[in-house]
Amino acid sequence: GIIMDGNGRWAELRGERREAGHKAGSAAVRRIVRACRRLGLEALTLYAFSEQNWSRPSGEVEALMGLLTEFLVSERGEILENDIRLVAIGDLSRLPEAVREVLDPLRKASSENQKMTLALALSYGGREEIAAAARELAIEAAAGRLDPATITVDTLGARLPSLSVGDPDLIIRTGGEFRISNFLLYGAAYAELAFLDRLWPDFTEEDLFAAIASYQRRERRFGLVGK
Ligand code: FPP
Repeated sequence: GIIMDGNGRWAELRGERREAGHKAGSAAVRRIVRACRRLGLEALTLYAFSEQNWSRPSGEVEALMGLLTEFLVSERGEILENDIRLVAIGDLSRLPEAVREVLDPLRKASSENQKMTLALALSYGGREEIAAAARELAIEAAAGRLDPATITVDTLGARLPSLSVGDPDLIIRTGGEFRISNFLLYGAAYAELAFLDRLWPDFTEEDLFAAIASYQRRERRFGLVGK
């Protein structure tokens, strides 16, 4: 999973509008999706737009939605040719019609693809996702279709769309901040974390390889003792 932070600062450093940073950020998305596919990663989840991002100035929100639409249109062919399954997580009902019109057919057309799952977190919030799953369980329990005593970490996890690809092994955040910002909260429980100074538009394949190499050198204990 990647928290793609630093687009705004990248633009400000160049005396440009924040939107220019998001445009450069979408070029980085193309680069990194290709690199992940070449590496043979099973799944990549990108934090493209948080539930909280709706509160940004409307011009910036529109620019982001425009870039997202452009990405889905221009990458459609390559996504399908490369056997990539595109999924989206988050409150998709809030997305503009123009985004849904390109997103939904691509999700459908790629649904049987096998090589990699690219999950776009759109209008996504980790707390909101957990709350939605809790609501769903409560409704079923109240209707008598579910025994509350059977709810476990795994049965709740099974209701979370972000975990349909499994728990994230590595979460990378670019842009120099040390926080998770409501991304994949439940799945992040035992994820390895990498916080990098690089601003997202400057993030290269080499940065990705370095983060993965660092991950490979770590010992994951999942609360147990070492080897
Ligand atoms: C954070 O940077 C980034 C975002 C809120 C959006 C990420 C979007 C893209 C990379 C482009 C569009 C997405 C796709 C999938 C094509 P920030 O604006 O918070 O940066 P700052 O912290 O420097 O202000």
